[in-house]
Amino acid sequence: MTEEIVKSALSKVMYPGFTKDIVTFGFVNNIEITGTDVKFNVEITSSAPEVAQQILDEAKQELEAVGATNVTPIIKAPQMPRESSSQGKNMAPQVKNFLMVSSGKGGVGKSTTSVNIAIALAAQGKKVGILDADIYGPNIPRMMGVAGIKPEVNGNKVLPIKAYGIEMMSMGSLMEDGQSLMWRGAMIMKAIEQFLRDILWSELDILVIDMPPGTGDAQLSLAQSVPVTVGLTVTTPQTVSLDDSRRSLNMFQKLNIPIAGIVENMSGFIAPDTGVEYDIFGKGTSGPMAEEFNTKIIAEIPIEPSIRTGGDEGKPITFVNPSSESAKRYTTAAISIINQIDEINANGGVDNAAVQPNTPPGVSACSTAAAPKQEAPQGESCGTGCGCH
Ligand SMILES: Nc1ncnc2c1ncn2[C@@H]1O[C@H](COP(=O)(O)OP(=O)(O)OP(=O)(O)O)[C@@H](O)[C@H]1O
Ligand SMILES: [Mg+2]
Repeated sequence: MTEEIVKSALSKVMYPGFTKDIVTFGFVNNIEITGTDVKFNVEITSSAPEVAQQILDEAKQELEAVGATNVTPIIKAPQMPRESSSQGKNMAPQVKNFLMVSSGKGGVGKSTTSVNIAIALAAQGKKVGILDADIYGPNIPRMMGVAGIKPEVNGNKVLPIKAYGIEMMSMGSLMEDGQSLMWRGAMIMKAIEQFLRDILWSELDILVIDMPPGTGDAQLSLAQSVPVTVGLTVTTPQTVSLDDSRRSLNMFQKLNIPIAGIVENMSGFIAPDTGVEYDIFGKGTSGPMAEEFNTKIIAEIPIEPSIRTGGDEGKPITFVNPSSESAKRYTTAAISIINQIDEINANGGVDNAAVQPNTPPGVSACSTAAAPKQEAPQGESCGTGCGCH
């Protein structure tokens, strides 16, 4: 038995959900061979027990097929801290980590990204919720296939709706179809607080929060209500979209939210008939901006007709077609987010004490002249002191 034989046998073991094997991923190390005894480590990114088990079983099978008799794989999976190390105000203390999905402007694919990342996080074994904080235009119920379903009410608390293995709540599920409300600063703050305090979220590892476009009252309220662990900016490759995205990244910095990265959406086009990828709006144009903010592009998601139909029909591509190219890219992004959350918690977590309002109780910080820490990103003002929509 040689290291070469071991590696070649292990390169037949695919990482669950991917078309790449565990050797190519670089997960196999410390191979020790004594006669036909083989011992090695596999460092995986998922803490889901079924992922580890599948790798264990297949690795044994492949090695025994080439003559190994005593196979001892040691699977090293990350342990998600059950307790987040974050501090400050947390209106939903049963939720360990919060991921805020934001963009400088509308229509770039925030909701689509939120849904697919949430499903990809759950597929990695995390307990996940998705909060549709876009109270102006809630789209998550449709995208999750639960449009029209009303949540169960328990006393003065509301149970989240379950779909695709994750919990969901949206203003769209609480209001009658087609109804719309005019939201003002103080009302937005109240709605965000209620979403966190009065929804009976389970003990979640990660709550993904789909924000309305822009950098306004909803974003500030969320950052004040819970310690947001990481922020994700969604952009499209065109320069005009990048200008807006810079505002979103700037906002994360002002709110002391660590940036998990940028999802460049509608980055190229994959033809459904040939699978060939074409460049339409540009590709990778967000790179310099990522560098400027000391972060990275964690996924380039192409325009794929099935992403749109998946949204319209409530069948998210990451769930219904996990082997598609886009689903794989969402999964890679989700793994990167998990790793970053782990690292942030290992280094003491986040603290939202510095962004708390210093206005008297009951008075919205957004309706008064903002304190220095709440000034609108890049000095804009839309009259509320909390930024623009
Ligand atoms: N990569 C993609 N390929 C194809 N269609 C996409 C892709 N990303 C998003 N879409 C479609 O583009 C439209 C807008 O996406 P989405 O609603 O996610 O954007 P948004 O940023 O949340 O918008 P808003 O600012 O209005 O909340 C949707 O119809 C969605 O299905
Ligand atoms: Mg949206």
